[in-house]
Amino acid sequence: MASTTAGKRAQGKPNGGPDPKHNVDAVREAYYDRISKFDMAPLWKVMKSVVTKEPVTRCAPVIWHYDDVKSLVLESGALISAEEAQRRVLILENPAMRGESRATNTLFAGIQMILPGEVAPVHRHVSSAIRFVLDGEGAYTAVEGEKAFMSPGDFVITANWAPHDHGNPSKKPMLWLDVLDFPAVNFYEASFAEYFEEGMQNTTRQDGDSLTFYGSGVLPDGIPVALNRSPVINYTYARTRPILERLKKSGEVDPRHGARVHYVNPINGGPVLPTMGASLALLPKGFKGTDYRSTDGTIFVCVEGQGTTRVGDQVFEWGPNDIFVVPPWKPHAHGAAKDSVLFSISDRPAQQALGIWREEKRAA
Ligand SMILES: [Fe+2]
Repeated sequence: MASTTAGKRAQGKPNGGPDPKHNVDAVREAYYDRISKFDMAPLWKVMKSVVTKEPVTRCAPVIWHYDDVKSLVLESGALISAEEAQRRVLILENPAMRGESRATNTLFAGIQMILPGEVAPVHRHVSSAIRFVLDGEGAYTAVEGEKAFMSPGDFVITANWAPHDHGNPSKKPMLWLDVLDFPAVNFYEASFAEYFEEGMQNTTRQDGDSLTFYGSGVLPDGIPVALNRSPVINYTYARTRPILERLKKSGEVDPRHGARVHYVNPINGGPVLPTMGASLALLPKGFKGTDYRSTDGTIFVCVEGQGTTRVGDQVFEWGPNDIFVVPPWKPHAHGAAKDSVLFSISDRPAQQALGIWREEKRAA
């Protein structure tokens, strides 16, 4: 201690004025104030909060039960038409980010309803959309001239700048989950949208053309190989569900994810969209998953069955059409009381393209 005091004394000002070392905090604060006037700030004060050792998220785990969601969405049918609303959608707001129209930090989620006889008019936007059909039969999404008629469990994509409209010629309301990447697009401040005069697009192809042409193990001549989004509009549940059953029978059941497939662009095997990816997983009856975490915050939908997902210290009990969010880097584990199917969407392709995606698998 004596040597330290002596050292300080040795560095003191010869004229006996205040020693800057004794007054270091005040000197630094004065300096910060001066540089602040030039819109500058010291990185060393914020370094650990901006370059964090592990992911930090504002996103909270949350579940929406379909019983609540469906009755509230049906109520909106009497409040506003699809035409007037453009899209009659109730936003699923993450409770930690209320008022920001997002379910995770990068993804919007909402429940869209279209009543019999309604049309949601044609428009297009830079944000890409994924739709996962929850309820109803026989409404359609028209994308770039193809009307894709939708059934529960179908997975429909609307890529960047693709014109699209929706219509419901059936006799029952149709409800689906919309997931869009606009929080990410708006982070880049790169949003454009266009609203057309006409309500509906002219149909130039038949329903199912895109899946038949591109999703059948063959490709027509003249396909651009560099297409960065899938040419398929509707990945039907009727075609995907049996694949999960075969995976289960062949024993290909991952201890964390169950028997799972990823929806892909059939041209290059990449994700369906550059910004969002989706998967479908079968958890066999009695499945007890081990802990898993990854840097992509994920929106799950229970398509069939019944089970639980532990997210951190919370346990969500889910059944058909319940929707829940697992935040980035939160350990979670699924369990299934009966054969159950989970659909999931995340921004994993965007993170992988940027080289920042990570996962952690706990030992099985
Ligand atoms: Fe849209």
